[in-house]
Amino acid sequence: IFVDWTPESARKEGFPHFMLKEIHEQPRVINDTIAGFGRDYEMGAEMLHSGDTIFVTAAGTSYHASMYFALLTAKLTGRKVIPFISSEYESYIHSASSGDVLLAVSQSGETIDTLMALRAFKALGCKVVSLTNVIGSVISRESDQAVYMKAGPEIGVAATKTFTTQLTALTWLALLIAQRGGRLDAEGIKSTRERIKALPDLVEEVIMKYEGWAKGMSRLIAAKSSAYYLSRGLGLPIALEGALKLKEVAYVHAEGYPAGESKHGPIALVERGFPVVFVSVEKSLEKKLLGNIEEMKARGAFTIGIIPQGSELGARLDEKVVIPSRDEVLLPILEIIPLQLLAYYTAVEKGVDPDKPRNLAKTVTVE
Ligand code: AGP
Repeated sequence: IFVDWTPESARKEGFPHFMLKEIHEQPRVINDTIAGFGRDYEMGAEMLHSGDTIFVTAAGTSYHASMYFALLTAKLTGRKVIPFISSEYESYIHSASSGDVLLAVSQSGETIDTLMALRAFKALGCKVVSLTNVIGSVISRESDQAVYMKAGPEIGVAATKTFTTQLTALTWLALLIAQRGGRLDAEGIKSTRERIKALPDLVEEVIMKYEGWAKGMSRLIAAKSSAYYLSRGLGLPIALEGALKLKEVAYVHAEGYPAGESKHGPIALVERGFPVVFVSVEKSLEKKLLGNIEEMKARGAFTIGIIPQGSELGARLDEKVVIPSRDEVLLPILEIIPLQLLAYYTAVEKGVDPDKPRNLAKTVTVE
């Protein structure tokens, strides 16, 4: 008997790459993660709420999710929340004390930089909450309270479904902390949970609507050597993550930057046709973002916007992806989807394997 498939291709379930399969799995695993909001989340939120300052540590994509958590929690609660890159923990430990609490975010639960940061904070006497995707991983074992997302195994080196499930889980944790701080009542929590439940269908809709767009746009991006991803506020971690995805899988130099900061240096590189991706989340920041779009257009940039439904930015962009929502709690999770697809199809267009980017390992176990 001749079979024209291998065990590996069978595991891809008809998709050419694990990365694409995992992008398409997002509606299901986000749903699983929401269904798993239970006692571990309540206890994690309680521990984070009880600390003086909340420190949040992670690496790579998980750091972008942590940055989002810090911005959202500070906005919802008025608390002091300090995100930092795990490998920089020696600089942050000076300002921490035993009454503070650390949230360690790692999809694998095995990243050595995050583990070292966790151990340093524990040695100081801080309580540690972890968010991982792997039950029994070392980071979950060494934390005082382990919380889990339910993304299932991620084979592609590039984090996709673990990022959106992290964002979903962290949004819920932020809301539970806000509830404990008296900023959200039981009714508010209930209605927000209902809004979050709409996510899987919306993610599906964004994939359906914009996969073709990403394929087409990848031809343009594959021919470029550089791109900027700019945003403000809650959209910034999404811009940083979009840039990381493009550079790690498609080998196109990409920088994520606060849009307002781009005029303090990065704009010097912009010339005719330079691609600049704008990510818009908060309506209150749209006017300022529009100013940044105009600055880039004036230098000849090719502007692409990932914008909410009803946004006024659309008219000023060369290309736009309109996300079918205006809900600022859901938008960041939806807005990364077209950027994951753009990175994937750019890699395919360039003929490189998005599942195994050169020089990268799925889990980094050396400092
Ligand atoms: C992102 O696509 C990479 N896989 C990488 O940045 C990753 O997020 C980082 O190494 C952290 O891994 P962790 O979540 O398993 O700790």
